[in-house]
Amino acid sequence: MEYAHQTVLRDEVVDVLAPTAGRTIVDATLGGGGHAEALLDRGATVIGVDRDPSAVAAATARLGGRATFRALRGNAGDLEALLAPLGLLPVDGVLADLGVSSPQLDDPDRGFSFQGDGPLDMRMGQEGQTAAGAIAAADEATLARVLRELGEEPFAGPIARALKGAQPTTTAAAVEAVKRAVPRRAWPERLHVATRTFQALRIWVNDELGALERLLDSLPRLLRLGGRAAIISFHSLEDRRVKQAFRALEGRCTCPPGLPVCVCGAGGSFRPLTRKAVKASAAEVERNPRSRSARLRAVERLS
Ligand SMILES: C[S@@+](CC[C@H](N)C(=O)[O-])C[C@H]1O[C@@H](n2cnc3c(N)ncnc32)[C@H](O)[C@@H]1O
Repeated sequence: MEYAHQTVLRDEVVDVLAPTAGRTIVDATLGGGGHAEALLDRGATVIGVDRDPSAVAAATARLGGRATFRALRGNAGDLEALLAPLGLLPVDGVLADLGVSSPQLDDPDRGFSFQGDGPLDMRMGQEGQTAAGAIAAADEATLARVLRELGEEPFAGPIARALKGAQPTTTAAAVEAVKRAVPRRAWPERLHVATRTFQALRIWVNDELGALERLLDSLPRLLRLGGRAAIISFHSLEDRRVKQAFRALEGRCTCPPGLPVCVCGAGGSFRPLTRKAVKASAAEVERNPRSRSARLRAVERLS
């Protein structure tokens, strides 16, 4: 099957990562290899990492012939443990283009989509619990909290109750449970009624925020001096974490307002490469509506 994923903010990523010959960049969310290809085309060496074996296979089919490309299966949150034993650290750049790819979303057998029907799986890699298993194992209060915090779902309580009652094993059964739980008059106009539930379950099952936090935490140990990190987020839960972590690396105080003295240890060794988050141009959004919510932030290690 063709791996049809449209790479977002491709030129902007190339601009901030400065991928010249002799520089090694880790693409921590390799997907179909679109960003990796652009970085390779500029002369950089690219180590591609993805937790999904089918993404690693697709990118290898596309780029495996290039001497400066190497693909590994792994989690962006575990780059240090993955790359240090191979003698590949430190590197000149780290890229993460978060979330799921179009081929993952579009394949009903992966269970990410509320369109069509398939097993309620949602795992990006093949390890750990499926979404169906996670729903069965969690208590109702935990499930409601997941839907509220990771999906910002206003009907988190009723939906959690309905999911626990239905114990869905297919995406269609999960959608039916959501539809039963939300009064018809409250269904969002522009969004499928199950959008927030599916987003929350996906982020939860894959521990996406945990992986992002581990990645952000490891940046000073992954990058050599002058090394750069670029992260593309697709929702505010991610972007907020990236913004705060970059601020802390830059040495800007991240203490909650109102504290009499700074307790976060401000005073950093990175500089921002993007003052504000970079967004897709109108032309890109026109071409690829998924790029509308993309936010790119980047930093450079100075000391
Ligand atoms: C948006 S796609 C990347 C597309 C790629 N940049 C391109 O241009 O083709 C995201 C990819 O990241 C992978 N992914 C998401 N979270 C990950 C993580 N924590 N560790 C490794 N891979 C991850 C997904 O499996 C998916 O293949």
